[in-house]
Amino acid sequence: MSISSLQAIQLEEQYGAHNYHPLPVVLSRGKGVYLWDPEGNRYFDFLSAYSAVNQGHCHPHIIEALKTQGETLTLTSRAFYNDVLGEFEEKLCRMFGFERALPMNTGAEGVETAIKLARKWGYEIKGIPENQAKIVVCSANFHGRTTTIISFSDSPEARDQFGPHTPGFIKIPYNDTEALQRAVEDPHVAGFLVEPIQGEAGVNVPDDHYLAAAAEICRRFNVLLLCDEIQTGIARTGSLLASCGECSCTGRCEQQPESYIKPDILILGKALSGGVYPVSAVLADHAVMDVLKPGQHGSTFGGNPLGGRVAIAALEVVEREKLAQNARRLGLIFRKEMEDLIQECSLIHSVRGKGLLNAVVINDSPESETAWELCVKLKENGLLAKPTHGNIIRFAPPLVMTESELMECISIIRKTFLEYAR
Ligand SMILES: Cc1ncc(COP(=O)(O)O)c(C=O)c1O
Repeated sequence: MSISSLQAIQLEEQYGAHNYHPLPVVLSRGKGVYLWDPEGNRYFDFLSAYSAVNQGHCHPHIIEALKTQGETLTLTSRAFYNDVLGEFEEKLCRMFGFERALPMNTGAEGVETAIKLARKWGYEIKGIPENQAKIVVCSANFHGRTTTIISFSDSPEARDQFGPHTPGFIKIPYNDTEALQRAVEDPHVAGFLVEPIQGEAGVNVPDDHYLAAAAEICRRFNVLLLCDEIQTGIARTGSLLASCGECSCTGRCEQQPESYIKPDILILGKALSGGVYPVSAVLADHAVMDVLKPGQHGSTFGGNPLGGRVAIAALEVVEREKLAQNARRLGLIFRKEMEDLIQECSLIHSVRGKGLLNAVVINDSPESETAWELCVKLKENGLLAKPTHGNIIRFAPPLVMTESELMECISIIRKTFLEYAR
């Protein structure tokens, strides 16, 4: 039975928890870079489910894997071995250059896993006294919604009235290596958790050498570098990982290995499964991962064969279709076109980003409704995007977009902004 947009919204309003404020559009079908509402209106997706749908909606190769594995075996739990998990772990290790992988489901679970791993390493290997381990995090971070993760969030909405909060986190400003150095001088620090680009905070791109400098400081003070690439990874920023720097190879960095900042713990999620099924993963080498012993961490669904097959297929799409290269090339075009628009349209303050993770900052206060109203107008003109933090609009289309589709999107954005500014 198909229902109208109005009915779908009414049902969600009546029966759903009101923990989201969606744009007023109902989506009922997706293919590649396009989404449709129940009335048959077509939209360009310029959010990609917060960068989970890098491979485009319902990619046939991923859906084929979902169907085939779905008819074969979906879940065994980790009480037994399954015949997909090892292959998936090998794919992860080879593609990202690590010795071990630990699959989970959601991004937040991946981050929780990384925090537990860093703490355990801190006690067993670094010799931090029991229950004294600290993790350094950055201001304006976004790592998920669990009780421990929101304990070190800056956002009052995310944090307040959900206490008591988990202790053991030190917050420093983002993009500040001096603050990092001061923080890690504390011998109880086990790890530094960082996003290579802060997506939710409004696509905050740090200085070019920030991550390399942070990695060097962590190494010097025997502190683990934990990179949360849940949003920036899997080709989104024009390289396989944002921590790959300027390298655009499709697998682990053969081209410019020196530009790859290898974290001690890498966290992936979202596009790891092309938005088809929740799969996240934590990667590390033996020296770190082997502190976990049977019974000390796990998940009923983590590592299941359905998720494994879907994720293998999703990674194959990234490689075969050279999505990193496409994101890099189209990202340059997008930012250049937005820079040109700034000359004509005082509504835009600035544009920033990397690859196809970009943001346009609106010339208005974060409390204003301008960015929201612009997104509603964009929707009316056939393009879906969402404000992040009041006056910032994130633009992150699926990476399978072609140049001519991107140019069509840019003309929708131009038209909408110029009309609104009038
Ligand atoms: C950088 C980062 N880390 C973690 C998460 C949490 O992922 P999930 O919503 O799958 O728990 C997100 C989600 O937006 C994210 O952007």
